[in-house]
Amino acid sequence: MADPSKIQTPPQAGAEPRPADATASYWHPVLDSAALRDAPYAVQVLDQALVLWRDAHGLPHAWADRCPHRGARLSLGRVCAGQLECPYHGWRFADTGRCVQVPALPDFVPPAGHSAQVFAVQEAYGLIWVRLLEGPHSLPLFAAESDVGLRTVNCGPYDVATSAPRIVENFLDMAHFSFVHEGWLGERGRSAVDNYDVQQTATGLVATNCRAWQPQSNLHSTQGAMVEYRYEVTAPFAAVLTKVPPPGTTALAAWRESIALMICPVTAQSSRVWFRLAVADFDSPDAVLQAFQNTIFVQDQPVLESQTPRCLPLDPRAELHTAADKASAAYRRFLKRADIGFGTC
Ligand code: FES
Ligand SMILES: [Fe+2]
Repeated sequence: MADPSKIQTPPQAGAEPRPADATASYWHPVLDSAALRDAPYAVQVLDQALVLWRDAHGLPHAWADRCPHRGARLSLGRVCAGQLECPYHGWRFADTGRCVQVPALPDFVPPAGHSAQVFAVQEAYGLIWVRLLEGPHSLPLFAAESDVGLRTVNCGPYDVATSAPRIVENFLDMAHFSFVHEGWLGERGRSAVDNYDVQQTATGLVATNCRAWQPQSNLHSTQGAMVEYRYEVTAPFAAVLTKVPPPGTTALAAWRESIALMICPVTAQSSRVWFRLAVADFDSPDAVLQAFQNTIFVQDQPVLESQTPRCLPLDPRAELHTAADKASAAYRRFLKRADIGFGTC
């Protein structure tokens, strides 16, 4: 697991990120569930350093990674008997966040104010999710999760030196297939993007009737095919694509797949990315399914990291747009409407 501190990048001239705002009231993924065991774990989201740990019941907790006594990083401490112990003076914190023991004063009963800063946390989709501020939003929906005809596998995390919205926009973008994914998701002679439909929704947008000629659209493709896509933005930094290739173009009969993109906005200009695949394939090893996704994302990453500014410009005049970009234009309008300042400019 990479250290989030290693992917922080200084702001670029002329692209000062806007301060965090509504973004903090959404749920964001921060870590693979399986990575959190019996030791505290440091992560970062929206510039906030967090310590994650599991209590005696195995339930996760997410607190500010700062001891309220003298500011030491709680993630350097340890979990003892279902409590988190600070590495500096050994203060013990119960799962509520409240300090229950100060070893230097054995008879002292800490008052309620002696508490760590606690954030809301939950587990879903094989990941740990955190929300820094109260808000009305649910976890991003992944409808394919409950489809018994599909099997789920996570890919990632990928640490990417750009903002979360740049990554979502790339996920919605079909015009890059023939260049970035030449020979896989597109080919140069067939780069035209046919008209498609975009509608705003409560969580973002849905784009339908998207079509792309793809030489190798999935792991089991046996020939090129005109593949139909549907995209849905399910939260400011989450999206789902579903695609169904024509019958007979894959080695697996009735192949279909749905891919959820889930992004942790580590800083305004650096992100941690997961894909959750739901695929009609119960036989291929996880590593084989993940390898195909890795191949595609490794093609995207250098281009994503080359884009300037790293924050996504919401002013329509800041970059040029064509009709092929109408999904990304709708996404930018949604971010503006939803007051998403983190990772935008
Ligand atoms: S800094 Fe944590 S116990 Fe002193
Ligand atoms: Fe791509």
